[in-house]
Amino acid sequence: MLDDIKKFDVPTPKEIVEELDKYIIGQDEAKKAVAIALRNRGRRKLLPEELRDEIAPKNIIMIGPTGVGKTEIARRLASITKAPFLKVEATKYTEVGYVGRDVESMVRDLTNIAVNMCKSEMQQIVESEAEKIVEERLLDILFPAPEYFKKKMNSKEFENLSEEERLHIIRFTNNREKFRERLLKGEFEDKYIEIATKERFFPAFELFGGMNIEDIEIMIPGFSNFVPKRTKTKKVTVKEARKILLAEESEKLIDMDKVISRALELVENMGIIFIDEIDKIIGPDTRSGPSVSREGVQRDLLPIVEGTSVMTKYGVVRTHHILFIAAGAFHTNKPSDLIPELQGRFPIRVELKSLTQEDFKKILTLPKNALTKQYRELLKTEGVDLVFEDDGIDEITKFAYKVNTETEDIGARRLYTIMEKLLEDISFNAPDLKGQTIRITAEYVREKLKSITENRDLTRYIL
Ligand SMILES: Nc1ncnc2c1ncn2[C@@H]1O[C@H](COP(=O)(O)OP(=O)(O)OP(=O)(O)O)[C@@H](O)[C@H]1O
Ligand SMILES: [Mg+2]
Repeated sequence: MLDDIKKFDVPTPKEIVEELDKYIIGQDEAKKAVAIALRNRGRRKLLPEELRDEIAPKNIIMIGPTGVGKTEIARRLASITKAPFLKVEATKYTEVGYVGRDVESMVRDLTNIAVNMCKSEMQQIVESEAEKIVEERLLDILFPAPEYFKKKMNSKEFENLSEEERLHIIRFTNNREKFRERLLKGEFEDKYIEIATKERFFPAFELFGGMNIEDIEIMIPGFSNFVPKRTKTKKVTVKEARKILLAEESEKLIDMDKVISRALELVENMGIIFIDEIDKIIGPDTRSGPSVSREGVQRDLLPIVEGTSVMTKYGVVRTHHILFIAAGAFHTNKPSDLIPELQGRFPIRVELKSLTQEDFKKILTLPKNALTKQYRELLKTEGVDLVFEDDGIDEITKFAYKVNTETEDIGARRLYTIMEKLLEDISFNAPDLKGQTIRITAEYVREKLKSITENRDLTRYIL
């Protein structure tokens, strides 16, 4: 049983949370909720079919002030799951009939992602085979074979050749192998050769009435196959040619039908769509005046979250089991301001908390990609050893927290602005500081930020 779950590559909830912990401080409740939702997909796949269809994903809304890690959790989730994952901004969409992207396009985008995922997976499988073919093709170009050699012959035909012809062939074969060795050693990498590539020529102008190729593909599947291929000769280095030919040859080896059917299955059962800024599609009080188009977007979202069939260029995709995670700051409104039908489709609510000074300290130092680590590495390239002292970090977080409470709370983003200001001079002068060690102490921080923090108006503009 456990082995089966492994087969679907869904890590355990604990493993997911552990992975998220490497980048995100606190917010345990949100981490737990997404971990469970993710794991449930894997569980569902193991159920008998009748039951599997009944189990709808438990969509999640993440609520919390700005800059506390909502988007960051989603971003990290994408790298943990090997499932197709799409992050969209709700504000990007417009109601059907208005100019802009319609909501269904998110399903099409997710499908494209899945197809690319499956394709590159396949590419890895056929890679070594394609490499061999490319090697032969490069040899053919660098060291063209005489006509009679190109003809594959069996041993009997070979025996029937004249002594001279046979010698010729043997000599040619030996030479070719020597060339192969030199090619593999990389001796020809910068040599220019001519290769013939086939490209589809898509007209750059709009086709019918503002439709692009993708729209047409949906109506007429396989449309782009009718666009003629043009053969073009290109002069490139062997190194570049290898890349081009490799793409061309692996394309030929990949069974696209298989890729697409796998991708569609993956999207329908494991796909995840993260809808950011969902609070921004709540209109102003709609009871007064005609309903605005933002509410239209909510209404368009309903069927997709509930389960519908969307036409994509790869075929129909059922959205019934796609997991939706929405997030929003909900500063001026509440989740209950969403239209009721939509609220009901997001049964799990998790709240992310405002960050404390202690959290700031951890965010600055602990995550794999922590800001202090980033600046340290950046300056190391200039030969400058940047050391953050403990009291220096304390002072930075104290300032960040203070500015957040006194002006506007922008969460961890405050750390970015403060750090940038703090290290501005060092960054600027770094090339002249080669070989030095610079310590960021409490005193240094106070000194650098004093002039700004003493003046509240200045703080507002600079930090
Ligand atoms: N809990 C946290 N742990 C580590 N880093 C964090 C945390 N919260 C925020 N950050 C950092 O702050 C930045 C902003 O966070 P994020 O993009 O997740 O904000 P958000 O919650 O989506 O806010 P908004 O509502 O404005 O979109 C990120 O780059 C992230 O690295
Ligand atoms: Mg965000």
